[in-house]
Amino acid sequence: MLNSSKVKIAVLVSGGGTNLQALLENERAGMIPDGKIELVLSNNPNAYALTRAENFGVKAVCVSKQDYPDFTTRENKMIEVLKENGIQLIVLAGYLSILSQNFTTEFADRIINIHPSLIPSFCGAGYYGLKVHESALAYGVKVTGATVHYVNEIPDGGKIIMQKAVEIQDGDTPEILQKRVMEQAEWIILPQATQKVCKLLKGE
Ligand code: GRF
Repeated sequence: MLNSSKVKIAVLVSGGGTNLQALLENERAGMIPDGKIELVLSNNPNAYALTRAENFGVKAVCVSKQDYPDFTTRENKMIEVLKENGIQLIVLAGYLSILSQNFTTEFADRIINIHPSLIPSFCGAGYYGLKVHESALAYGVKVTGATVHYVNEIPDGGKIIMQKAVEIQDGDTPEILQKRVMEQAEWIILPQATQKVCKLLKGE
C-alpha cells in the first residue's frame, strides 16, 4: 500500500451509532491520521447512524433485509458496495448481524469489531446489547470493559487488538453499566484501535 495514502474505512452499523460518532469525531480531530472513513453501511434503514454519517458528510448506504431478503444475495451486495468504494478496512460498530465465512475470508485481517466486555468473558453467539452487561452483573464480576478484536468466522473469536477495563459499582443496572462501558472504554479504544490497524495496514 502507498505510504502517503490513507486507508479507506467503511463502518458497518445497525443502530444508534454512538461508536460511529466517536470515530467521526476522532477523525475530525486528527486522531486517525492514517485512515479515512469513506462509507457507512447499514443493514437497517432506520438506523440513526445513517443520519450521523450524513451530518459528517460521509456517504451512507443501506443494504437491508427488506430489499435483499436472501442472506447470501444481501452479503454479496454488501461486498459489491465495499469493493466499489475501494474499502480496505471494515469497522463493525454495533453491527448486529453475523458475517458469513465467505465475507470474513473476502476481507481477511481487514475487519475489526468492538465488543462491550473483556473477551473471553461474556462473548460469543447471542452476547450482544444489554445481555452482555446483564451477564456480567449476574456473574458478579467487579471489573468489565470493552474489547476491539479482528473478526473471523468465530463470533468474537478473532485476535484481540485493544482492551480497556471499567469498574462495576454497587447498584449498577445493565443500562447504567452499558453507558459507563461506552463512555469509559468503547468510545476511546475503537478510534485508537482503528488508527492502530490503519497504521499497520499502511506499513504492509
Ligand atoms: C455497542 O455496545 C457495541 O459495543 C456493540 O453494540 C453497541 C453499539 O452501540 N457491538 P452504538 O450503535 O455504537 O451506539
